Amino acid sequence: MSNEQTHHPMASEGAAPGATGVSRETSDPFDRLVEDNDSPLAAEMMATERHRRALESATFPRPPRTRIIAVSNQKGGVGKTTTSVNVAAALAKRGANVLVIDADPQGNASTALGVEHRSGTPSIYEVLLDDVPMHKVAQRCPDIDTLWCVPATIDLAGADIELVSVVRREFRLHMALQALLEGPGKDLDYVFIDCPPSLGLLTLNAMVVATEVLIPIQCEYYALEGLTQLMKTVEMVRKHLNQDIHVSTIVLTMYDSRTNLAREVATEVRSHFPTQTLEQTVPRSVRVSEAPGFGQTVITHDPHSSGAVAYMAIARDIAVRGAAGAESK
Ligand SMILES: Nc1ncnc2c1ncn2[C@@H]1O[C@H](COP(=O)(O)OP(=O)(O)OP(=O)(O)O)[C@@H](O)[C@H]1O
Ligand SMILES: [Mg+2]
Repeated sequence: MSNEQTHHPMASEGAAPGATGVSRETSDPFDRLVEDNDSPLAAEMMATERHRRALESATFPRPPRTRIIAVSNQKGGVGKTTTSVNVAAALAKRGANVLVIDADPQGNASTALGVEHRSGTPSIYEVLLDDVPMHKVAQRCPDIDTLWCVPATIDLAGADIELVSVVRREFRLHMALQALLEGPGKDLDYVFIDCPPSLGLLTLNAMVVATEVLIPIQCEYYALEGLTQLMKTVEMVRKHLNQDIHVSTIVLTMYDSRTNLAREVATEVRSHFPTQTLEQTVPRSVRVSEAPGFGQTVITHDPHSSGAVAYMAIARDIAVRGAAGAESK
């Protein structure tokens, strides 16, 4: 995306990972600090900072048409919301127009994006059940101009049951989102749908409108349990409801490279899904987990942290893969 690539004062120096240090007179205080200290922690910080700088000067190509990505895994607490909001924020920070649809009654994505979602706030519930147009409930996120959120309130908790008796109940989100994309949302580059931890009607609605599924997998024991069921659901949706859908991306979350278990899980996931699994993993990081408490993503909360840099790298991978055409059907 060329308009993003204006010269940044830090971009030309030491931008590439592993670049050698510059002279003490010209190096910045960060480089001096870490070069004076050869501890493993300093080395790790230096690697993270170099990676961040390299990403700062990297291009984030925009997709030829809107990519609609359902972030799904019926297993709870694997990083669906964290991945949705941080990848969305990273892409938006780099100039893309991005919408996050919170499709989980817990409203965690709405919290992390700092948008109002008290009970009674116009939300995805009114879109799905009362035909309210999506642009009427979308809110701009306070920290990033090109990032929007359709919030979820606790009212959504009954939707899985209430939708059962509604006409074309699997297509409610599809109808609402298509109307948005043909009108006020025509310039959106990405739509991320943060799914609840179940394979009920809300997740089904997300899969019917999405062209891609992104599956976060936590690098823990039981990580792969339930994955077969998830894959079967995607296949069922592809056969009967939405022939465009496919699992485009798998993100390994809360990865701790010091544990054998994390490495084993990663190896196993990669052996099953070699093309979908991104090289970049998300490290377990306090900054990532504390960011929602400030109504922020880690991208704005602490852009220098290892979690923010990992999510920025993941966002770039997703952007580059999409630009190659493979993911944008
Ligand atoms: N990289 C990380 N480092 C540290 N904590 C993390 C990381 N990613 C996620 N977490 C924490 O793990 C918990 C679960 O993450 P998250 O809410 O994103 O999962 P989820 O799959 O959306 O959960 P649910 O199934 O309940 O919707 C949260 O408390 C979150 O802050
Ligand atoms: Mg969640």
